[in-house]
Amino acid sequence: MNILARQIETFMDIEDKLSFLCNCSALIKESLKDTNWAGFYLYQKGQLHLGPFQGKVACILIDPGKGVCGTSFEKKMLLNIKNVHLFEGHIACDAASNSEIVIPLIYGGRCFGVLDIDSEKYERFTDEDELTLQEVADIIAKKLAQ
Ligand code: SME
Repeated sequence: MNILARQIETFMDIEDKLSFLCNCSALIKESLKDTNWAGFYLYQKGQLHLGPFQGKVACILIDPGKGVCGTSFEKKMLLNIKNVHLFEGHIACDAASNSEIVIPLIYGGRCFGVLDIDSEKYERFTDEDELTLQEVADIIAKKLAQ
């Protein structure tokens, strides 16, 4: 297991899910250099709602299928967007963001929302980051399923 995933594992005994996600967003943001936003959109009543995050004020509601987050959620697919300006329908929360990675939070066939991370750098997220963050997202989804 990668270091970040192992650190997230140590949060598993945090009882409250909101507190758990708050610390996850802080740790993820702090661990990945050149990131300007890291946080969650959680699926409730047909929409993705802004969850715990680190970074600038962000949009509160995203419809499934909209933006990078809604697309990742709808397709149940990790999306590593090297240049967000080339992604049709990208929702610009922080104008400084140039690349973004979104990972759906899936456990037991259920998708609880997405983990979203932005960077001011183009092509910030590598293939290795994809593997690392997939592992992280799997642990987080497991907690949300409890
Ligand atoms: N850029 C995202 C919206 C969320 S912010 O990046 C925090 C999107 O296109 O879905």
